Amino acid sequence: MTDPKKYILAIESSCDDTSAAVLCNAKVLSNVVATQEIHKQYGGVVPELASRAHQQNIVPVVHQALAKANIDKKELSAIAFTRGPGLMGSLLVGTSFAKSLALGLNIPLIEVNHMEAHILAHFIEEGSMSQPQFPFLAMTISGGHTQIVKVSDPFTMEVLGETLDDAVGEAFDKSAKLMGLPYPGGPLVDKYAKLGNPFAYDFPKPKVEGLNFSFSGLKTSILYFLQKQTKENPDFIAQNINDICASVQHTILEILMEKLELAVEQTGITQVAIGGGVAANSGIRSRLKEAEETKGWKTYIPKFEFCTDNAAMIGIVGYLKYKKGDFTQQNVAAKARYAIGS
Ligand code: KG4
Ligand code: ZN
Repeated sequence: MTDPKKYILAIESSCDDTSAAVLCNAKVLSNVVATQEIHKQYGGVVPELASRAHQQNIVPVVHQALAKANIDKKELSAIAFTRGPGLMGSLLVGTSFAKSLALGLNIPLIEVNHMEAHILAHFIEEGSMSQPQFPFLAMTISGGHTQIVKVSDPFTMEVLGETLDDAVGEAFDKSAKLMGLPYPGGPLVDKYAKLGNPFAYDFPKPKVEGLNFSFSGLKTSILYFLQKQTKENPDFIAQNINDICASVQHTILEILMEKLELAVEQTGITQVAIGGGVAANSGIRSRLKEAEETKGWKTYIPKFEFCTDNAAMIGIVGYLKYKKGDFTQQNVAAKARYAIGS
């Protein structure tokens, strides 16, 4: 028997992307993302500006999502929204909007944990995307997060390790900034790395026990390295940008892969799913492919638009919770710190 058609409107506003999506069950009908360009000139996200931009974007983005899906708001079955974690001022915009709309339409409200959504994005039904089997390991890597999670079923997740300081995307972006590259520098490091020698320069890897990560030391060692080199040769960066990017990326990938290997070893789970903006990195993609061949892992990467912050991933969690009847009361408040499973 096929499930009855349910239409979920989902809203994501945890950081600097205002996004709205409409899902029909597990299928995405629309997924609109307004990326806030204003932060580029500051070299990073400015929370106050993000909150203001969400306020400007939220109504047109929701309208666009409904129009693209060709769904009238009266047809909606529920409204899902990101409750946290994220920037408080940003979360408040999506939370208040979702609460008022659900109240106005008299339909259920469903709160979603953003980190769980990055993981459950793998369960969006999308032609070419295959879905991991439970239990699996999920590594979420983005500008705001770096986590390895054991996923036993959609609602039983255990964080095995996470970053103690910077997120991996920040490590990419901050390294890029030291090389004079514009924000966000991750994709540029990836681009130049393809042309360079990953073994040209040696950067120390952090000594962090277990499955936690640390990236702030790497940034400092790159800073000292570049300061020393440019003192001797002011054109050092321009002349060696490909090799520097390749070596930085290689170090970051080594850190990620070592932790993933350890997680596989500790849990015996060889299903490995990754998500988050850094999953776009061509290096991590080829390292995972390689692990399929050499280590017998089965790896999963969602379509790119479901990797970066987006409302479709909030919608899939909304749909799964809708089926369980797991609804949220109107007195719910946004939660800037919101651990998985809490
Ligand atoms: O998921 P996302 O869009 O937003 C956050 O939740 O942070 O991730 C953005 C991060 C940025 O740090 C960006 O530099 C990084 O993902 N990124 C990449 C690549 N594409 C995006 N990092 C390395 N290589 C890439 N190709
Ligand atoms: Zn995110």
